[in-house]
Amino acid sequence: MAVQPTVVEVAQVNKLFGDVGTGTLALQDISLSIAQGEFVSVVGPSGCGKSTLLRIVADLIAPSSGSVRVMEKSAHQARLDRDYGFVFQAPTLLEWRTVLKNVELPLEIMHGATADWKARAVEMLEMVGLQDFHHHYPWQLSGGMQQRASIARALAFDPALLLMDEPFGALDEFTRERMNLELLRIWERTHKTLIFVTHSIPEAVFLSSRIVVMTPRPGKIAAVIPVDLPYPRTFETRESSRFFELVTTVRETLKEEFVGSAVVSAGVVSEGEA
Ligand SMILES: Nc1ncnc2c1ncn2[C@@H]1O[C@H](COP(=O)(O)OP(=O)(O)O)[C@@H](O)[C@H]1O
Ligand SMILES: [Mg+2]
Repeated sequence: MAVQPTVVEVAQVNKLFGDVGTGTLALQDISLSIAQGEFVSVVGPSGCGKSTLLRIVADLIAPSSGSVRVMEKSAHQARLDRDYGFVFQAPTLLEWRTVLKNVELPLEIMHGATADWKARAVEMLEMVGLQDFHHHYPWQLSGGMQQRASIARALAFDPALLLMDEPFGALDEFTRERMNLELLRIWERTHKTLIFVTHSIPEAVFLSSRIVVMTPRPGKIAAVIPVDLPYPRTFETRESSRFFELVTTVRETLKEEFVGSAVVSAGVVSEGEA
């Protein structure tokens, strides 16, 4: 297979919120290289810096040290060039625009609201099951529906790189599984590169070609686990023995990190008391 170009290059990134000594070290020495067409999930306990990492790649916050390149440019330039779509944990729709107008917004900005792009907004809304809600306002939808509209908006302008921060966390199990399959279908069809944050291990295994396992704070990379399940993945994938083995591998890796860090903090406590 031909070597794919690198889409995201994170090198020795540290992120400290606040001041040295009193602040929170959220990320420590993160280096990660992601090639075009990869589906990389990031898993780790709450507060380990997953969102921070994604926001740094998106140039929404700056690293304290280290460097980030996106599409072989600075993360800042990539943001200006709208090289990626970002789906946040919570839906981020404009309250005064209808669902359809929300999804059309990036298309309007980038391409002008031409018929082709309008058709694409409609197609994306259908994909996420909101075809009957074009003219509703965000407040008229459930949280899950608003999140699906946010996903449709991120997909609509067809970015080569998609950054998704626990996008399906608020969805019910059925919708979530359907969205997993739809996302894979889009990814396979369009050769996008995906970085997907989740705290669901089965979801990470089901979707990804690689899984980045992070340690509790300060977030470091504990392991990068390749997922050798064949694509296209189906409902049967979730029932295969390899699927369960991989889920166990990721879980054990996380558990080791968690126990490891608990031992370290226990040590610090007893030292302080001595
Ligand atoms: N803007 C911020 N200011 C101060 N601390 C922050 C900020 N954003 C995140 N943190 C802290 O950094 C750590 C990592 O947060 P986050 O990246 O949101 O974790 P995760 O997404 O893995 O749950 C947490 O301890 C969090 O409190
Ligand atoms: Mg988060």
